[in-house]
Amino acid sequence: MSRYVGSIDQGTTSTRFIIFDRKGEIISSDQKEHEQLYPKPGWVEHDPAEIWRNTEAVIAGALQRKGLAAGDLASVGITNQRETTMLWDRKTGKPAHNAVVWMDTRTDQLVARLSEDSGKDRLRAKTGLPLATYFSGLKLRWLLDHVPGAQKAAEAGDLLFGNMDSWVVWNLTGGTEGGLHLTDVTNASRTQLMDLETLDWDRDILNLFDIPRACLPEIRSSSEVYGKARGVLADVPVAGILGDQQAALFGQACLQPGEAKNTYGTGCFMLMNTGEKPYQSSHGLLTTLGYKLGKEKAVYALEGSIAIAGALVQWLRDNLGLVRTAPEIETLAGTVPDNGDVYFVPAFSGLYAPHWKESARGVIAGLTRFANKGHIARAALEATAFQTHEVIEAMTKDSGVEITELRTDGGMVVNELLMQFQADILNVPVVRPRVIETTALGAAYAAGLATGYWNSTRDISDNWGVDKRWHPAMAQAQRAKLLAAWTKAVDRSLDWAE
Ligand code: G3P
Repeated sequence: MSRYVGSIDQGTTSTRFIIFDRKGEIISSDQKEHEQLYPKPGWVEHDPAEIWRNTEAVIAGALQRKGLAAGDLASVGITNQRETTMLWDRKTGKPAHNAVVWMDTRTDQLVARLSEDSGKDRLRAKTGLPLATYFSGLKLRWLLDHVPGAQKAAEAGDLLFGNMDSWVVWNLTGGTEGGLHLTDVTNASRTQLMDLETLDWDRDILNLFDIPRACLPEIRSSSEVYGKARGVLADVPVAGILGDQQAALFGQACLQPGEAKNTYGTGCFMLMNTGEKPYQSSHGLLTTLGYKLGKEKAVYALEGSIAIAGALVQWLRDNLGLVRTAPEIETLAGTVPDNGDVYFVPAFSGLYAPHWKESARGVIAGLTRFANKGHIARAALEATAFQTHEVIEAMTKDSGVEITELRTDGGMVVNELLMQFQADILNVPVVRPRVIETTALGAAYAAGLATGYWNSTRDISDNWGVDKRWHPAMAQAQRAKLLAAWTKAVDRSLDWAE
């Protein structure tokens, strides 16, 4: 009987392999960052070959660290940065172009053109998504337009489209020697090419975007045995795929309608389980697939997506040199008692939920001669909390559910100052679970459930436990003052291109 389950977490800034036991505790892990490429303002790319090399390296690294072998794993799951789009050659396995990353805005003209007709929400009823630069369908259109010969090759099935889950599965299961070309429903729901009800590629949208079906992966459930791995994980069943935010929802045991989590990573994404029916948002949220376990009914979610959260801290580190390491931001922010009236709206990729405005740009507002780097650091952290407040307001209006406690996870939740401010600004307690790697854990659960390592989703709920809870401690008048100033700063950001 295998002792553990493995999880590949292919994220925006790094790739990790984490090995879990039955209690959902981490046994071993390894991580490797990959290069972020910025060829033009608004453009963000990754080198898919580097990502696959890193994936193999971290799998080997995590196994070695604890003297484990592939045979110690009952199954392996995959979770990934969603929407990031690539095309590769079926015969050679070579990427036709760098991957176009989810936050890249190069499709803004396409979005504008397609919105002219019947507005940005013309595909919402079928896909749950507004037209935006964020989703993969239009990124794929861009690649087919700009890689010479790509449209023809895609029509012939010689070029394959995938998000990072498909790229990893294809390589993991053999690549040019019979690799599987598939995706799961959660990732497919982020392409804007899938019908939320039929869970199949939608013919009308494929026609509208002129996307050949022959290049698209097969859509499968999030938890089933897809095939066996080769290479470093030889013979381990590949048995779970979930987009990273959906994986965190699952790993956080948000298994009942109304339960929600917020993940503080590169971006920040709040998802609420809405049960077996897709709910359409009228307040700027997305309707998305939550998960689908084998032949069971699909579970849907409402999502509030924030493009820039931890990425702002990285920007302060890499582009301004304000801190040397990301964790130093908390120390720097702690040198001042408050934000000194400084507000930072990090609209680097426009603003996502609930605004969906490509032309919004980042602003730092409220500066006086008094402001110092401590205030900028504080404003940067507070930006994530303010944006989360906007998303929760929309979530409450859409769902009618008042969130009484916020489950958090992701890299930024070690930041005590942010967590306390988040509780203060939302006026509800904020909870951090024992395992904050819930993204990787969610994909491990999907893979482990498919192979009988875990018996049922009861095991997920039983494993979930609280590490720390922050209680709101801010006076209502202060909260109202801060939120009003934030709204003014957001208006400046939204108006930028006007
Ligand atoms: O939709 C983008 C999201 O999946 C990226 O997640 O954790 O890499 O910020 P993360």
